[in-house]
Amino acid sequence: MTSYADLDNYFGTYPSPSLSALIWVLIRLPGPITLLGGPTSVTFVPYDRPVRAAFVGLGRIYDLNVRGYIDNPDVEVVALVDPNEERRAQRQADWPDAATFASAAELAASGLEVDTAEVLLPIVLHADGVAELLDFGWHVNLQKPMCNSLAEAQRMLDAATANDRILRVMDNYLFYEPLHRLKAVAESGEIGGVVGYHMKMVGTGNGGWDVPWSSFEWQIDQMKRGRGIMVFDDGWHKLTTAIWLFGPIREVRAWIGNLAVGPGIDLETPATLIWEHENGIRGVWDVTIAMDMYLRSDYYTNDERWEITGSKGFARVNRCTGRGIQQPSVEIYADGEMRGYHALDDDWGSSFRDSGRYWLRWLHTGDGPLLWSGQEAVDVLRFALAAYESSAKGGIGVDPALLT
Ligand SMILES: NC(=O)c1ccc[n+]([C@@H]2O[C@H](COP(=O)([O-])OP(=O)(O)OC[C@H]3O[C@@H](n4cnc5c(N)ncnc54)[C@H](O)[C@@H]3O)[C@@H](O)[C@H]2O)c1
Repeated sequence: MTSYADLDNYFGTYPSPSLSALIWVLIRLPGPITLLGGPTSVTFVPYDRPVRAAFVGLGRIYDLNVRGYIDNPDVEVVALVDPNEERRAQRQADWPDAATFASAAELAASGLEVDTAEVLLPIVLHADGVAELLDFGWHVNLQKPMCNSLAEAQRMLDAATANDRILRVMDNYLFYEPLHRLKAVAESGEIGGVVGYHMKMVGTGNGGWDVPWSSFEWQIDQMKRGRGIMVFDDGWHKLTTAIWLFGPIREVRAWIGNLAVGPGIDLETPATLIWEHENGIRGVWDVTIAMDMYLRSDYYTNDERWEITGSKGFARVNRCTGRGIQQPSVEIYADGEMRGYHALDDDWGSSFRDSGRYWLRWLHTGDGPLLWSGQEAVDVLRFALAAYESSAKGGIGVDPALLT
């Protein structure tokens, strides 16, 4: 069985496509990785040729998801799907041999063979869109958040089962190397026994890459549905890392505020979520907006931290999406000494590359956890829904497993 340290070795290095690249990949990731949930058993026959992939949704986040596909001998991109003609033309430059379509139904009707879809749709389209793609007989790698409700999630899981296809809900944070180091340190005993942890997210108003207004429009609709961009969309990552680090959650308490920044534009801040894992470890996440703060970032302007307190020290990830604290991305304090990791791949964009590569390789082996499976994503959804329920009821404790 491959250890977590072996997955660490996977980061950052990848040869260009060649026979040696294939051999390299085969020897580097031979078996299941020890993680929550253990190995996934599959009924489909793993591929012994490049998988034929379609991108469905070619908007802002395509720019990062595509990194897992570039120069990757595990995949052949055969189709690009988006109703927006401009987007199709723009992305065609990356894949001149791929066919383009305005809808997935058109692609399916074309007779072009597809094995898997990389789904980068607005959240509200996830449930119907994913069920449709699974019904076409394609595997699905879906961007987080999975969907808005447990009923939608069940529909997607049922479609995967009925079609004997794999539904993966990707979360690139699970492939951010500094977070891997954090987890490894916590598990090593280097900082003693874990006594608690906290996460911090500050959304800032200045800096970062351009996000087109069209990418915000559906987020504003999401806000009206009570699934806001701070706690639900960004929060999905944080709640995922919590479960990934310390396992199932037994109780959640939350106090979710509201900051109206424009007509119909409500940000769920300040927000404080606290929870207890089944193993007794407690976590806290605080979310704020610093509207006038400039944050240097190649991507979104998120200033983020994770800090685990141990009985004899602490381990901290100083940044993730943006470049807030310009110290080593991971710092460890124990026994009166501070240690910093300066050489990790702390470019947030690399986590998309590695998540995509992991999935495309996984389709060739069927071995190990999906990071994340559809079922694990439902646990994250339950965690988020429990926070909303707690906040609506004045901060009472809510068991995510009891939500219906
Ligand atoms: N992992 C992360 O950190 C991260 C960051 C940003 C967004 N996301 C997620 O990625 C997804 C997409 O977000 P985005 O910011 O790229 O949105 P976007 O609005 O920029 O892109 C969505 C694209 O989907 C297209 N589309 C709409 N309906 C379609 C249909 N029926 N078939 C095919 N294409 C269709 C739109 O034309 C658009 O080009 C969302 O789930 C979002 O939450 C994740």
